[in-house]
Amino acid sequence: MKIFERKADLNQYIEDAKFDGKSIGFVPTMGALHAGHLALVSEAGKQCDIVVASIFVNPIQFNNKEDLKKYPRTFESDREMLEKTGCDVIFFPSVEEMYPEEVEEKYNFGALETVMEGAARPGHFSGVAVVVKRLFDLVHPDKAFFGKKDFQQLAIIRALTKQMGSPIQIVGMDTVREADGLAMSSRNRRLSAQEREQAVELSQALNFIKQNKNNFTLVQLEANAIEKLSRNFRVEYIQIVDGHSLQSITDWSQSNYPVVCAAAFLGDVRLIDNLEF
Ligand code: PAF
Repeated sequence: MKIFERKADLNQYIEDAKFDGKSIGFVPTMGALHAGHLALVSEAGKQCDIVVASIFVNPIQFNNKEDLKKYPRTFESDREMLEKTGCDVIFFPSVEEMYPEEVEEKYNFGALETVMEGAARPGHFSGVAVVVKRLFDLVHPDKAFFGKKDFQQLAIIRALTKQMGSPIQIVGMDTVREADGLAMSSRNRRLSAQEREQAVELSQALNFIKQNKNNFTLVQLEANAIEKLSRNFRVEYIQIVDGHSLQSITDWSQSNYPVVCAAAFLGDVRLIDNLEF
């Protein structure tokens, strides 16, 4: 497995691979890898000749400095896991390598970015779009793999590739969960033992909505789901939306692809999760 820290070295490798007619699968990450990331890498290996993973904690997508500071950085174990999972290349750039100059790009994703995560984390998706576009331009993947846990991010990335007129195929993969149902996340390791036990309540609240779909109005379902969480949770939103437009719905007839999305703090750890219907 190769590890490149410089764009020029990665470029050379990609050029050679393309010249040899190899297809490239790309898994962008911020490291602190878990089984969810590894599922993306495995799938990329099944669908493409070469798998490139990037590890870059992207400062411009953090709207909270503390969160950026506390984001787990675990390169050695990430490297080992990627190697075992069949990754061919890790791109591990520094901040200076990715952003040698002030970032000036601007993106507009309209209503997709003004709701949920976009509303709660101003500037977040702009930062995601900037880094993903730069990474796509470096890696030139045939396919790029993203987890559905970041449901809104996946929608934004699909919109970005459309805006770029890019042929890259975006593959969204199901959320990988712990045995009790908690969605895997790099941030989970920051939960205390007690918080970790309670964290599962978020996925239980989403399941409650799915199971009681026909027993309450949508507004009641959202309110009941919030009530089910322990007091330690600070809920930002539990919202039933249309999975295409991401806009809130108040009646099932308003969407042929409803998804319930949630974000909540437990202590100072922000958890997100969602469930498709
Ligand atoms: O999902 C993530 O880990 C990040 O948002 C991504 C896509 C790697 C961009 O920094």
